[in-house]
Amino acid sequence: MFDEIATTYDSLNHILSFGLDKKWRRKFIKNLPEQKYGTIADIASGTGDLLVKLQILNASKYYALDPAENMLDIAKDKVPNAEFIVCTAESIPLPDSSCDLVTVSFGIRNFADLNTSFAEIHRILKPNGIISIMEFSQPEFFLFRFGFIIHLKLFLPIVGRIISKNKSAYKYLQSSIFDFAKNVDVFKLLENNNLKKINEKRMLFGAVRIYVGRK
Ligand SMILES: C[S@@+](CC[C@H](N)C(=O)[O-])C[C@H]1O[C@@H](n2cnc3c(N)ncnc32)[C@H](O)[C@@H]1O
Repeated sequence: MFDEIATTYDSLNHILSFGLDKKWRRKFIKNLPEQKYGTIADIASGTGDLLVKLQILNASKYYALDPAENMLDIAKDKVPNAEFIVCTAESIPLPDSSCDLVTVSFGIRNFADLNTSFAEIHRILKPNGIISIMEFSQPEFFLFRFGFIIHLKLFLPIVGRIISKNKSAYKYLQSSIFDFAKNVDVFKLLENNNLKKINEKRMLFGAVRIYVGRK
């Protein structure tokens, strides 16, 4: 599905978030614990917009991992210094304890098997390595939650269908956001996989959250 929407993905992201996705990615970088990151793996890297921002960390090695080749093809023009690997989070072809930082932005709700994926993330992280995740969530205050639901149920499918010409993709996007926000406790997932909670940052009244943990 992501292969099919790859060419319109970036512009739709900017339109659907009213340009806020750029700000969220900047905050994601600012929120990382201050330490040296030699090797960084960006899982569900897609078209590479987070990887572009991660360049400021001057890592010696960047990996961009994603199962959708067409998404990665777009990322290749933006971050030519990265190594691109077509794979899912459930089976990552990187050695044990090889990464100082693993990042996932707007990707974990697509993982087919969350426990297997987090076991893989734990495996590839070095001791004391950092995992940072950004994902949609539900605003706590009911008025903002109502606005968020209207946005996902009306604006997203209509604009998504018009621009990407793919009705099912943006229906999937809507339901995956709802399902994930309702059912998944990210810090519980980290804890179950021996990753310690460091901090959580809420943006847009909790509609987008950043979860940081350490191995
Ligand atoms: C919404 S995009 C996010 C892309 C990018 N990280 C961003 O911030 O714009 C979700 C990505 O998750 C990828 N994906 C889907 N299933 C996956 C899986 N099982 N493991 C890893 N990535 C997956 C898709 O191919 C897609 O590129």
